[in-house]
Amino acid sequence: MNAYEAIVTRRSTRNYKTDVVEPEKLQKVIEAGRYAPSGGNNQTNHFFVIQKSDVIAKLVSLVETAFANSEVYDGMYASLKNSIMLSKRGGYAFCYNAPILIVVANQKDYGNNMADCACAIENMMIEANELDLGSCWINQLRWLNEEPSLLAYMRELGMKENERVYGGMILGYAATEDGSPNRKALERKGNEVTYI
Ligand SMILES: Cc1cc2nc3c(=O)[nH]c(=O)nc-3n(C[C@H](O)[C@H](O)[C@H](O)COP(=O)(O)O)c2cc1C
Repeated sequence: MNAYEAIVTRRSTRNYKTDVVEPEKLQKVIEAGRYAPSGGNNQTNHFFVIQKSDVIAKLVSLVETAFANSEVYDGMYASLKNSIMLSKRGGYAFCYNAPILIVVANQKDYGNNMADCACAIENMMIEANELDLGSCWINQLRWLNEEPSLLAYMRELGMKENERVYGGMILGYAATEDGSPNRKALERKGNEVTYI
């Protein structure tokens, strides 16, 4: 699979097997993230590679509690509103039982924090696809990146005082017969291009 094929066949995976991801494959995915470009060559992304199911479960539970205590309002971003409604009902499984959650933090006062994080996550998702692994962007920890309970827990896990979460990604073998992710490209209806 060349780079273009890995890009156009990457799709989000939201159903996972419990199978362990081989350490060599995981390391390649993380290195793909670390080799992403960064504004001014800052290299301040901080990757938390979480393979402990109890840690993922704790983050999921903290997110659910925070959302359950949030209010929805007219005009709210639909996915955020949906997360709050689902959390109020209970059993909000936004990590889709994936075996690995990668959280990307960066410095809160750095203007390219989210851009650098996005470059890293896209690199990791493309590399995951090349390695027959499924992945999906997970945004809940970014939405709640000033929530005190999550800040405190992320600091326990090693996040520095001046860092905040700007994105997350899950990784693992898809719950398909051979573990490969769905690779059927989604038709592009948006993303306008103007050639000059
Ligand atoms: C910034 C960003 C945030 C996203 N957040 C989530 C999320 O929290 N949960 C989720 O299931 N998918 C999330 N996605 C995945 C999108 O829903 C997905 O990329 C889109 O529907 C297109 O589908 P595809 O990835 O299969 O091509 C996110 C994607 C991006 C780029």
